Amino acid sequence: MADRFAVILAAGKGTRMKSPKPKVLHEIGGRPMLAWSVALAKELGCKRTVIVVGPDMPQLSEAAARLVGAENVAVQKDQLGTANAVDAARAQLANADGHAIVLYADTPLIPLEAGERAFAELDKGASVCVLGFKAKLPNRYGRLVTASDNSLEAIVEANDATEAQLKIELANSGVMAAPANLMFELLKEVKNANAKKEYYLTDLVSLARGRKLKAAVALCEERDVQGVNSQAELAQVEAVFQQQKRTHFMTEGVTLPAPETVYFAHDTRVAPGVTIEPNVVFAPGVTIETGAVIRAFSHLEGAKVGPGALIGPYARLRPGAVISKDAHIGNFVEVKNVTVGEGAKANHLSYLGDGEVGAGANIGAGTIFCNYDGFFKYRTIVGAGAFIGSNSSLVAPVTIGAGGYTGSGSVIVKDVPADALAIARGVQVVKEGRAKSFREEKAAAKKAGKKPPGAI
Ligand code: UD1
Ligand code: CA
Repeated sequence: MADRFAVILAAGKGTRMKSPKPKVLHEIGGRPMLAWSVALAKELGCKRTVIVVGPDMPQLSEAAARLVGAENVAVQKDQLGTANAVDAARAQLANADGHAIVLYADTPLIPLEAGERAFAELDKGASVCVLGFKAKLPNRYGRLVTASDNSLEAIVEANDATEAQLKIELANSGVMAAPANLMFELLKEVKNANAKKEYYLTDLVSLARGRKLKAAVALCEERDVQGVNSQAELAQVEAVFQQQKRTHFMTEGVTLPAPETVYFAHDTRVAPGVTIEPNVVFAPGVTIETGAVIRAFSHLEGAKVGPGALIGPYARLRPGAVISKDAHIGNFVEVKNVTVGEGAKANHLSYLGDGEVGAGANIGAGTIFCNYDGFFKYRTIVGAGAFIGSNSSLVAPVTIGAGGYTGSGSVIVKDVPADALAIARGVQVVKEGRAKSFREEKAAAKKAGKKPPGAI
């Protein structure tokens, strides 16, 4: 197989997004659109991926450099068209011996198979291949002019098309593959004699045909190549992504009673036999193992949930939360960077941040791991089988030994040995009859119009 290379176009200003953030850094499934294109290039096995950015886009250039390395970020000085944009990658791909694919960074959902189909046409002898689709409303897309054998003759931009060409339903997705050296050779011949006075990448097809080279179309679905130009289109593409994920997980044996209310991230992993109740949101980095139940209104990010664990309703798992087999995390419990051991329970109103909870431990309602002093963070270790009384504050760094107890309402600032009981709260005083006498004194004062000092 020929080596593969990718050029990702990201130089567009994206003015229609009306956002201070560069368009292609907006996210689908919790991942910037640009990173989707880079991930596709990687899955296609591309040896080198060049991202073309515009000048004066520091935030975008930095993001691109993090994804592919600064040496693979090319700058297109002026926005002179898609051919000019690809040409900006010429220096990086000067010695590229193999097949190159052009992707748009604002088109995030292209399936791997579609990219493979485009490359496959080159392997079968085509010199240029574009991904095309049957457009519901082809109006703004370039039209694919095909010959009787379905090979590609030319791409005509809508602005330059004749009445007859505008009737063509087969549209250009923008994805194009060609041998890298041929691509850069033909790019030198592209002229801007068209309605927009731009250098069109699409002209590569007629230039190749002029040399008696074969051009081909690989087909894909319209939703796979839906581009994003506005906030509304961003939401539409997000909806397509969510729909695909929900269908995928249900096909894989995940129970979703209200799939349309559950939101996944690009990398969410859910095993068969998991139930996800309504209104659950997955940010990136979550893995759920079989038999776990994620109850309604929970939010999970960067967390691992073990087999049979019960999460929520209304739970929040933050990065580094590792919930072991059969553990329970209940309502209004927030867990961050804590491993909760097998069968341990924290069922109500708690913050567990930075530490460990041993197997079978019970964390009472309202327990707080006081992990931060305003400058540094510290760990709280709760041993196996420990019982933390309700409303305990565990001031880290602190360790509760295995089987240890803390009395409700305690503020624990020192380690508690294994099997010890720690009580750290005011000692209870009971005064018989004092409530009654207090009420009588106050009622009498009020009746006499005598306000105590400070009363208003
Ligand atoms: C392009 C195709 C059209 C196809 C459509 C699919 C050409 C001439 N036309 O049209 O056939 O149907 O995409 O959406 O290629 N870009 C740069 N630098 C530039 C110009 C564009 O980086 O100088 C980037 C844009 O940011 C964008 C992509 O290239 O991501 C496509 O450019 P755009 O101008 O939107 O092309 P279309 O007119 O939509
Ligand atoms: Ca476009």
